[in-house]
Amino acid sequence: MLAYRHAFHAGNHADVIKHVVLCAVLEHMNDKDKGWRYVDTHAGAGLYALRGKHASVKREYAQGVGRLLGRGGAPLAVAPYLDAVRAFNAGGALEHYPGSPVLARQLMRAPDELRLFELHPTDHRVLSARFRGDPRVQVSAADGFAALRSVLPPPTRRAVVLIDPPYELKADYARVVAALREALERFAEGIVIVWSPQLALLQAAELPRRLKATAATLARKGWLHARLNVARAGAQGYGLTGSHVIVANPPHTLAAALRQALPWLAQSLGQEGEVTHAVEHCAP
Ligand SMILES: C[S@@+](CC[C@H](N)C(=O)[O-])C[C@H]1O[C@@H](n2cnc3c(N)ncnc32)[C@H](O)[C@@H]1O
Repeated sequence: MLAYRHAFHAGNHADVIKHVVLCAVLEHMNDKDKGWRYVDTHAGAGLYALRGKHASVKREYAQGVGRLLGRGGAPLAVAPYLDAVRAFNAGGALEHYPGSPVLARQLMRAPDELRLFELHPTDHRVLSARFRGDPRVQVSAADGFAALRSVLPPPTRRAVVLIDPPYELKADYARVVAALREALERFAEGIVIVWSPQLALLQAAELPRRLKATAATLARKGWLHARLNVARAGAQGYGLTGSHVIVANPPHTLAAALRQALPWLAQSLGQEGEVTHAVEHCAP
């Protein structure tokens, strides 16, 4: 039973950091003409109506992307992300939020292709309808973890994989590590981006270390770990306080770009308590 719906969280601080990294990586991929394949193991619904019945419950986007659009001084590294968000809000007011598959579609070129996996029947239907008729985009109602073996390595040997599960099942913590391992065993040069939550939970606290250890053994070009903490936990210690984004085989420009972006993002998104950020980069 899938209870998680990303529409409740679209555009929150976690989406911002994850999507800034994703857009920066895809923009870098576009520096070469050769086509790439983007794989989204947990794609969500694609585009979210921020005034809709889900996103408007807690208005998480107001503490996320909503804090960025009118703010000056955005670092260059955030520009591909902000441009993509603005493209869906042409009137100026923030009404729509593009999720990862829609951001990838926005940045893709003629030779590139998308392989999207989404298990929730409603979100899968919405996502399929959005891309119907586009032969470069395949949307499957399949388990994204298990599907990795069917899409890697790509024929052009250029790929970006996003692994972004809801972590509503404790099994996701182990499956994410296994999926990163499988992706890199199949394609050791592939760029793999994994989002993981900052939560008061042992599995969550241990996950970045486990992901980095896996990437250190298998990724040809090392790994990067970006961390952004923007909020204090609630009274009972619950609540998402920030994000980790681990990138295996990061583009060589990514660490510098994120070191430029994170202070501005932290200043923009910080809610209360200690706001911290860091970029750790391990080149082989
Ligand atoms: C965090 S959301 C994805 C958000 C999206 N990647 C984005 O950044 O816009 C996680 C999604 O994974 C879906 N899901 C959960 N388990 C899955 C699985 N094993 N395979 C594919 N999709 C799954 C959920 O229905 C949910 O839509």
